Amino acid sequence: MTEQIPMSSPDISAAEIEAVNQVLQTRYLSLGPHIAEFEERFAAYVGARHAVGVSSGTTGLHLCVIAAGVGEGDLVITTPFSFVSSANVILYERAIPVFVDIDPKTLNIDPALVAQAAHKLTRGQGDKERGRQGEGETRGQLKAILPVHAFGQPADMDSLLDVAREYDLAVIEDACEALGAEYKGRRIGTQPETCNLKLATVFAFYPNKQITTGEGGMIVTDQDDWDTLFRSLRNQGRDVFDAWLNHTRLGYNYRLDEMSAALGLAQLGRIEELLAKRERVAQWYNERLKDVDGVQIPYVAPTTTRMSWFVYVIRLAPEIDRNAVMAALEERGIPSRPYFTPIHLQPFYRERFGYREGDFPVTEAVARSTLALPFSSVMAEEQVEYVCEQLVTVLRQQLQTR
Ligand SMILES: Cc1ncc(COP(=O)(O)O)c(C=O)c1O
Repeated sequence: MTEQIPMSSPDISAAEIEAVNQVLQTRYLSLGPHIAEFEERFAAYVGARHAVGVSSGTTGLHLCVIAAGVGEGDLVITTPFSFVSSANVILYERAIPVFVDIDPKTLNIDPALVAQAAHKLTRGQGDKERGRQGEGETRGQLKAILPVHAFGQPADMDSLLDVAREYDLAVIEDACEALGAEYKGRRIGTQPETCNLKLATVFAFYPNKQITTGEGGMIVTDQDDWDTLFRSLRNQGRDVFDAWLNHTRLGYNYRLDEMSAALGLAQLGRIEELLAKRERVAQWYNERLKDVDGVQIPYVAPTTTRMSWFVYVIRLAPEIDRNAVMAALEERGIPSRPYFTPIHLQPFYRERFGYREGDFPVTEAVARSTLALPFSSVMAEEQVEYVCEQLVTVLRQQLQTR
């Protein structure tokens, strides 16, 4: 097999092509009927009262940070083991991300450490985190927790919601990688019944995601006031009763256009098929890699009653040179990626906040060992077979030369 295997691929059928074509034959390329229908079906699928379509996962998270009342100098507890935008959206409001280390197995934020951090920060302690606010800036408050369901595995939400209740914090769930995942039998996005918290969940639809709209995202919430606010903020700050050039508040153009919404609707209609295909590919990998020396296959927590496979990420034993493995795979037509690079070690976070290696040891150890292999719902079993065969050969060579 000499052809390059793609790292990821969208799964587009004739139904999606037809749906987008139909939109192109109407006058409504934005603010038309498809966005409303996509929102309605999406809310029903995840089990929330409201869904608001936005231009990306990042813009959805940004609007949640605003809705949570996070302002200049305020603090938001989040994970350093994520895609950079889950922390960037906090910076957009000139607030401070307070990173908390992760659980080494689930790779999600550690709720016990979140409870400790909330305790410290609400009692005027946590000077190190507050110190990151810089001299002379107003001292804000701890306002929210922003957990991420990394790689499609739900974070331990019950424990995190307990902390949020105790300290009166908003919760912004980054479910950009987790559409369809279930935690203790609840689908991610379903708002807990007893929950009188400020809570919203954000999904993303970039082409490597479980469903795609090209670019796009969706915020879901049970809170009527947040739903109204999100609709205004995404549409240049207009309230529903505002005239076209009336703007009640500072807003943005974070709208999702009609072609994207029609594509999303058609993909959502295939969601069970798409998730099942991803699950099958993950199982092909698991079967072939579970007993390979130097490889740890993905862990699925007992609270994860359904994993929504977003990527397939293995962990390599510390004695294996990951860069050499990646280079050898690349020569064989197989792309692979270290995933994630910790956010606190990104150059501008180091420069702005003074983070150094050693600040979040679990995240850093995990990040040194992870390797994402090619993964998508359209991958064939022979492709998985080829990737695994080549990986095993490369690892064997490495372990023998030690
Ligand atoms: C965990 C996480 N958060 C946020 C995002 C941002 O989503 P988008 O790329 O749609 O802005 C992504 C997407 O890659 C993600 O994986």
